[in-house]
Amino acid sequence: MTPQADDQVICIIGAGYVGLVTAAGLAEAGRQVKVVEVDADRRAAVAAGISPIFEPGLDELLSAVVASGHLRAVETMSAGVAGAGIVIVAVGTPPTHDGEADLSQVRQAVDQALGEVAPGAVIAIKSTVPPGTTRALARGSSRKDVAFVMFPEFLREGSALEDLRHPSRVVVGGEDMAAVRRVAALLGGPDTTRLLCDSVSAELVKYGSNAFLATKISFINEMAQLCELTGADIEHVADGMGLDPRIGRSFLSAGLGWGGSCFPKDVRALETSAGYHGQSFWLLKAAIEVNSQQRRRFTAKLLQGLGGSLEGRRVAILGLAFKPFTDDMRQAPALEVVRQLEDLGAIVVATDPVALARARPLLPGTSLVDDPYDAVTGADAVGLVTEWPVYRELDWGRVFAQMRGRLVVDGRNCLDSRAITGRGGIYVSMGRRTRGLPETTPGSASEAATASVPPVPLG
Ligand code: UGA
Repeated sequence: MTPQADDQVICIIGAGYVGLVTAAGLAEAGRQVKVVEVDADRRAAVAAGISPIFEPGLDELLSAVVASGHLRAVETMSAGVAGAGIVIVAVGTPPTHDGEADLSQVRQAVDQALGEVAPGAVIAIKSTVPPGTTRALARGSSRKDVAFVMFPEFLREGSALEDLRHPSRVVVGGEDMAAVRRVAALLGGPDTTRLLCDSVSAELVKYGSNAFLATKISFINEMAQLCELTGADIEHVADGMGLDPRIGRSFLSAGLGWGGSCFPKDVRALETSAGYHGQSFWLLKAAIEVNSQQRRRFTAKLLQGLGGSLEGRRVAILGLAFKPFTDDMRQAPALEVVRQLEDLGAIVVATDPVALARARPLLPGTSLVDDPYDAVTGADAVGLVTEWPVYRELDWGRVFAQMRGRLVVDGRNCLDSRAITGRGGIYVSMGRRTRGLPETTPGSASEAATASVPPVPLG
């Protein structure tokens, strides 16, 4: 006999980043969670309580919830959905060649789940999908006894468990309000703000949030350019703007721009999706272009600082992951920067505290080393790409003793410029004054150099 749908039993399809973190968090909160994962290695890791991804605290939590029996990794859909009241779809929606979200994994997961799921269960789409997808899945479903909702996720890599335990908001959208409420009860406590709405709005909350934050970053990056041209300091400008509570200081850190598995994919998908509805979302097109330009501007600063040629010059790159506290290399700015530097003839030696294993297959010709002091040995210039705290604490006296040159380009405006110039270095940033050089016209030289770096497409 098919077991009844029970909301204490949750099935999560996909042990990727979102699926795994959500599974661990719900298991910690006392639900019985089953994760359906087709990849045998990944499934074995989860079953052993070992996280296949780097996320602070996840290893400890996984081993605890596996040991307590609250989380199980299963192979088949029938084992996963048996008795589940809520089935969460957390599979990938990678970009197609023209920027659309590829929904094939979502469709396959939903089809398989529908064949096995108990009557009265809810299918919650957690994968990021274009507006109208959840409604179309519901309309096309042969199982009218199964409701569909959109359940966008707002986890940030590096602080995902904290975000899950204390969500700033829970958004659930769907046409069946009872189903929406059941899913909304999964996360947060009595004080959590919950927005219950239709599924298309929930889909656009997710895209809109990521696209807005990405645009905010591109805006401050344009301001950083203007700071260079006018002699202002972007950190003061961002601090001052951020003091307005309507603006806020977060996501106003100028630098190499946004990467990762979400912003680049989601901004493009929203822009493409708007295009299908006849809208040219100009703001997003500009945000994408500014973001790509930031990588070229960083490369140009190294080129300019080394006298206009990188041929045979040694450049140490500090940080490869798309942001600190993750080993995620998806759409990492470092990949574009290293490619540009190597195209211009530089010899790149790169380092990262945790991402080297993931970076190796993506940067096959680049020398990757564990120790930052090894990376800088013999270097003509250092370029900081990811603001890992360990790089802020470098002993610049020791760095310059090992380097051949003195140039430091800070792609995240996170280093102490005085510590660098105090040891005889030249400090170049993204929107702050260059230090350690005789005064020049701010910005003009690096603007000229930007033009000489070939555009490198996102993707
Ligand atoms: C992002 C969103 O912040 C999450 O809310 C969302 O759930 C997630 O995408 C998702 O869709 O799954 P995440 O990709 O982990 O989370 O990274 P963020 O912390 O948002 O950073 C994105 C990028 O922007 C990084 O490359 C970061 O270096 C860059 N960034 C961030 C800046 O360049 N400047 C800033 O001020 C902030």
